[in-house]
Amino acid sequence: MKRLLLLALIVGCTDRELVEDPTQPTEAEQLFIDDVLPMLEANCVACHGSRSTAGFENGFLAGESWLEVRATLLASAVIGPEATRSRLLTKGEHSGPHLSAEQTSLILRWLGAEGL
Ligand code: HEC
Repeated sequence: MKRLLLLALIVGCTDRELVEDPTQPTEAEQLFIDDVLPMLEANCVACHGSRSTAGFENGFLAGESWLEVRATLLASAVIGPEATRSRLLTKGEHSGPHLSAEQTSLILRWLGAEGL
């Protein structure tokens, strides 16, 4: 009985660990979590957070977690082929706001860390 309880505890802990902290974030991921994502959340996610928001296919910030959002963004056509010319940075003012110079350099720092 004790053994079973111990096993249940170990399994429980392992599961929880996997869900909450899959791996140690890389430097690029940490930049994304700390600097880039909060800024995009505050300014862009309302319109670009889902593939169907406002009826247009422009969900380059879609995702349920920072890992998913980062993956969507990196795979999206608004990034690249060259970081400095990516549409994410050059879009300018539209139905949404444009990025400030400070926000632009944050994103460039992150893209640099991602190797782009
Ligand atoms: C109020 C809604 C709204 C907000 C907020 C918003 N956008 Fe947009 N965005 C749109 C709409 C609508 C389009 C498509 C029409 C157009 O290009 O103007 C678009 C298009 C874009 C595109 C072009 C996508 C492509 O495939 O070429 C980029 C890049 C973009 N937005 C970046 C941003 C960024 C970065 C932010 C935050 C700083 C932001 N948007 C905030 C509504 C919004």
